Amino acid sequence: MDFGIAGRWALVCGASKGLGFGCAKALAEEGVNLVINARSADSLQAAVQKLQAIAPQIKVIGVAADITTPEGRTAVFEAAGGPGKDYDIVVTNAGGPPPGDFRTWDREAWIKAVDANMLTPIELIKATVDGMAERGFGRIVNITSSAVKAPIDILGLSNGARSGLTGFVAGLARSGIAAKGVTINSILPGKFDTDRLVATHQATASKTGQDLDAVRQAQADQIPAKRFGTAEEFGAICAFLCSRQAGYMTGQNILPDGGLYPGTY
Ligand SMILES: NC(=O)c1ccc[n+]([C@@H]2O[C@H](COP(=O)([O-])OP(=O)(O)OC[C@H]3O[C@@H](n4cnc5c(N)ncnc54)[C@H](OP(=O)(O)O)[C@@H]3O)[C@@H](O)[C@H]2O)c1
Repeated sequence: MDFGIAGRWALVCGASKGLGFGCAKALAEEGVNLVINARSADSLQAAVQKLQAIAPQIKVIGVAADITTPEGRTAVFEAAGGPGKDYDIVVTNAGGPPPGDFRTWDREAWIKAVDANMLTPIELIKATVDGMAERGFGRIVNITSSAVKAPIDILGLSNGARSGLTGFVAGLARSGIAAKGVTINSILPGKFDTDRLVATHQATASKTGQDLDAVRQAQADQIPAKRFGTAEEFGAICAFLCSRQAGYMTGQNILPDGGLYPGTY
């Protein structure tokens, strides 16, 4: 299927690896020009080269910056050779907040989580959405978490901040921009086999004294699909949400989790 987005410009944040890279790769395969972002310049440059090898006909620009800062966001809008603020597609993403007990989180911990996982996506949307509406086409995809649908007790910072973003975009997606060809959807990853997931498995293994493979197997066994998702599977969902064909789908929360969430809806 031709997704009808070749030649458009996408900003994909947190894209040197993991789910963000999966989205960038799927968009590159659709012929979309890319500005990709992450903090570490070396791994970002390696990602740029991989994407350029996959799709030599597209432009790929790497912007090494912390997207949760105003300077980082300015950098992605001022990337030389990029579209300025005239992105057709924006994929919001950054690292998730740390786990812990809410009794130990002070105001600063909350502000940091809300800043990264709620206000940063909102700032990115604010800067780009009206231009998309004027041009009659726009796709915003937020990478959030299954914790929005089924909260995880030790991830209270994530549950709270990401739910705030979800509530905000639910309203915005249904506002006047919907009639102007702009959609906003979120993907709520369950357990995807990225460095972040491996790091959580390693932490569990060292805390419990279990073997890493045993921890991974035990977690995979809890998922009806009996495995973790892949960044490629995640990217394919993202590319579809950015497609011309997905134009009638907005304000939705898509939950790829191998069947882990037990509810009917
Ligand atoms: N994997 C899962 O199963 C899963 C499940 C639920 C939710 N999530 C959420 O999905 C998001 C992506 O997870 P992932 O598994 O893909 O993580 P990952 O493999 O650790 O990749 C994170 C990517 O984001 C970049 N990044 C992190 N903080 C950034 C910042 N402040 N500014 C710019 N780039 C930043 C990282 O590069 P640098 O470190 O170089 O900046 C890297 O490219 C996270 O918010 C995570 O909490 C993931």
